[in-house]
Amino acid sequence: MRRGTEAVLAAALTLILGVGFWLFTGESIGNGQTDTTVAIEFDGPAAVRGETLASETGCLACHTIDGTPSAGPTWKGLAGSSRPLESGETVTADDAYLTLSIIDPNSQVLEGFNPVMPTDYAQNLTDDEVSDLVEYIKSLGS
Ligand code: HEC
Repeated sequence: MRRGTEAVLAAALTLILGVGFWLFTGESIGNGQTDTTVAIEFDGPAAVRGETLASETGCLACHTIDGTPSAGPTWKGLAGSSRPLESGETVTADDAYLTLSIIDPNSQVLEGFNPVMPTDYAQNLTDDEVSDLVEYIKSLGS
């Protein structure tokens, strides 16, 4: 290969890498949005059990999985998001929050919603079932 060609190739490569890097960093810091999209890890088989439980237990009468609010908030994108509560606090929907929301819903009522969620799931569901439901909610994106 001739010198000239090599230099051109090197320049092209530098340009491509440079633009690529700019696009990459530009995307993560760009347009003032601070929302970080953290991939939520979940247990696949547990999430599948949770999906069945959610319909059998009747959760889906009040919760949707497609982003539409119903009597209760949608589960789409819930895991890991910030939740404004009636108390004025804002909390992150981590595993502990999701679990407590199921077993003691009135302990942290979401702003703008009536506290109509049944409060007897702690009695009617096992710990494993509650955790399967949490895994299912986590599988619905963050
Ligand atoms: C009668 C309607 C109703 C049913 C049935 C119901 N929920 Fe809810 N749920 C709500 C409402 C309303 C809220 C928001 C108010 C609050 O925080 O209590 C809520 C809140 C939640 C939250 C917190 C949501 C958020 O956006 O922060 C989770 C998690 C949840 N429900 C899970 C469940 C699960 C799991 C079931 C079934 C085992 C269930 N719900 C059944 C009405 C319901």
